[in-house]
Amino acid sequence: MRFRLLAFGMLAAFALVAYGGPVRADSGPAPYLDPQLSVEDRVDDLLDRMSLDDKLGQMTQPERRYVTPEEITRYRLGSVLSSGGSAPSPNTPESWADMYDGLQKAALAGPLRIPMMYGVDAVHGDNNMVGATIFPHNIGLGASRDPALVREIGAATAAEMAGTGVDWDFAPCLCVVRNDRWGRTYESFGEVPELPTVMTTLIDGLQGDELGGPGSVLATAKHYVGDGGTDGGDDRGDTRISEKELRAVHLPPFRAAVNRGVGSVMVSYSSWNGLKMHQNKYLITDVLKDELGFKGFVVSDYNGIDEIDGKRGFSEDEVASAINAGIDMVMVPTEWRRFIDYLRTAVKDGDVPMSRIDDANRRILTKKFQLGLFEHPMADRAYLKTVGSPAHRKLARKAVAESQVLLKNEDDVLPLDSDDKVFVAGRSADDIGMQSGGWTITWQGEPGPITPGTTILDGIRKAADSSAAVTYSKDGSGIDKSYDAAIAVVGETPYAEYHGDLTGDMGLDADDLKTIDRLHASGVPVIVVLVSGRPLDIAAELPDWDALVASWLPGTEGAGVADVLYGDTAPTGRLPVTWMREAAQEPINKGDGKKPLFPFGYGLTYDD
Ligand code: GLC
Repeated sequence: MRFRLLAFGMLAAFALVAYGGPVRADSGPAPYLDPQLSVEDRVDDLLDRMSLDDKLGQMTQPERRYVTPEEITRYRLGSVLSSGGSAPSPNTPESWADMYDGLQKAALAGPLRIPMMYGVDAVHGDNNMVGATIFPHNIGLGASRDPALVREIGAATAAEMAGTGVDWDFAPCLCVVRNDRWGRTYESFGEVPELPTVMTTLIDGLQGDELGGPGSVLATAKHYVGDGGTDGGDDRGDTRISEKELRAVHLPPFRAAVNRGVGSVMVSYSSWNGLKMHQNKYLITDVLKDELGFKGFVVSDYNGIDEIDGKRGFSEDEVASAINAGIDMVMVPTEWRRFIDYLRTAVKDGDVPMSRIDDANRRILTKKFQLGLFEHPMADRAYLKTVGSPAHRKLARKAVAESQVLLKNEDDVLPLDSDDKVFVAGRSADDIGMQSGGWTITWQGEPGPITPGTTILDGIRKAADSSAAVTYSKDGSGIDKSYDAAIAVVGETPYAEYHGDLTGDMGLDADDLKTIDRLHASGVPVIVVLVSGRPLDIAAELPDWDALVASWLPGTEGAGVADVLYGDTAPTGRLPVTWMREAAQEPINKGDGKKPLFPFGYGLTYDD
């Protein structure tokens, strides 16, 4: 190897000196810049050259609004993130690419030219970006039971990201939702470990056949571990179960993700039997890294280390505790300077061994080399044309259709005929924001025409022989018995994380119930399309409904719902979660002996 290093040094001296790359006094240009060398050799060489501050910078991830390009250079920061909805202005693909390239240039201006990674929550498409294809949220993909489709969605999402340069996706969430009160139920593929486990194909889609290939981004298995099992479905709460149950229910998807070569793992805010995951060395280091053999790097959640001691902000002890537990990079959006200072002190005081700092850097740098960031650090703008492309929207529409679960179909009121006279109502019928849910353009999502797409009503109009056959009235007023069918598209207003936790009842809201009643009073058959992130408590109202379709949160391609309603695609979706008979049953899951309204795996089709 030494000869090769010397040979490389001789051959490349001119080129590297010309571009001003790092030059070593004794042997010429830096071997870590040679893509012919093994990643391990490149990491070894680079680590040898790094100061403590270089290494601390690699472990620090601020949020884009709280750092300048000059500070990225000065503090040698290794990564930047966009939190939910944090976008450049204007929020266009080109503007994202310009932002990324600007920050990357700043990172490359550091003494060792170490490129940064940029992370986003592209959890159902590149959903912070206006114009991106928005796919169904995970709960709908769980209903599809189609891992191959999910892999294609990963690849499409990665392509739409790659054009903007963004190279790290905080996805997939591999949580196993056990209580549907949890505000993140829709981010789960299902209530049994087998569903998130098979859907780790998303990782293959995002990362590609090998990391660093064309359109490949780093995936993140999150949130490690047990976030879906907290008492009461309390987001960031306490998962009080035995290790046996934790290993049987919540760990398998992470084992599968590690086996698929996932590049990063994000730690959960939640606790396990009273200990915050962010300080759980046994689960992060002994289990994830040693037992499962995870070779990527572990990132904290957003301000996750602040919550270790339950007090606001973070202390030196919390920093040392998190790093010693095995966290390699800390998502510290605003107080990142203080984090660096505390970690430097912890190392100097011997509270964090240098071996831990070097292990964290080795893991982070290995992924940067494997991603090819040293060779192609800038946005690959050739991919910009894939953003919101017809091909991606067609894929999303297929995913929407496959995710629909037909739960009731009295007298085969479905499928509709294209010449039926149809009355459509409901606040979720003609609203891209409502049908996309949280993590769409903004962190919480919101009603309204927030990004280009096809509403469920648009889809119904296109499926009918003529739009004249379709009347829309948001609250259902104006219906009469001349119609062949009435469709009420109702459900939840967008939310994310703890904002979606439900501690009280889990029924439909009063406006939606009034709308449905108005339709029912006309005597016309009523089809309810439920746009929600989880099962809702609808048993009492169900007898008055002729049909019920669980549509989940379909995203921008609402035509996929009409494809099922008009029979262009037969419904094949099956429940990824048990549907409660009443909210008091939560948590209710497959095999727990409780009697649900609809069991896990239930779903009708038109042959029934
Ligand atoms: C959030 C979420 C996590 C997300 C991170 C960055 O609080 O818990 O899923 O990846 O912060 O936005």
